Amino acid sequence: MIYKYSVMVFASFSLLVSHVCLADDFMKGKALVGEQCLSCHDANLDPPVAPPLFGVQNNYMRFAGDKESFVAKMTAFTMAPTAEGALMTKAVEAMGVMPNLEFVEEEVRLMAAYIYDEHFAPPCNHWLAGMKIAMAKGDMVHYKQDKKRYQNMCE
Ligand code: HEC
Repeated sequence: MIYKYSVMVFASFSLLVSHVCLADDFMKGKALVGEQCLSCHDANLDPPVAPPLFGVQNNYMRFAGDKESFVAKMTAFTMAPTAEGALMTKAVEAMGVMPNLEFVEEEVRLMAAYIYDEHFAPPCNHWLAGMKIAMAKGDMVHYKQDKKRYQNMCE
């Protein structure tokens, strides 16, 4: 009886600890992204410097079957960005391939795991900025694409 009880206490305690650790990793990843990625990936930059994380997350979700391969692919790219390794070929065309900023791999893993788990708001200002640039260039294909996204998710 006492044995059963202590197994139960131990089990719920480990469950609690693993939840606290997961929440802790999420907050660590979020803080690191704020420090190391948002100077370029902020969805409100006008003109944009890099794709907002909403779009980055979508592309990696489509490519990867689960969190593990999402984190692996994103970490591999971020540690050594190349045009061939990039999923977002249109972003590479428009902004050039991401520079190699010599991040710390363990930190990038935490950031990629956070990016997988986060619910990003649709980047409405980014689409407005994109429409402005496309209009100025006379690029109506890109203009219509961003306008459609804006209308679907921001209006
Ligand atoms: C100096 C600006 C800059 C910083 C800082 C930056 N990025 Fe980027 N990133 C870019 C640009 C530009 C692109 C779009 C071109 C591309 O896809 O390579 C990009 C694209 C990406 C992509 C999509 C790559 C693909 O498959 O096409 C990922 C993933 C990414 N960044 C992760 C990160 C993470 C994680 C951080 C922070 C640790 C970060 N970036 C910091 C400029 C930056």
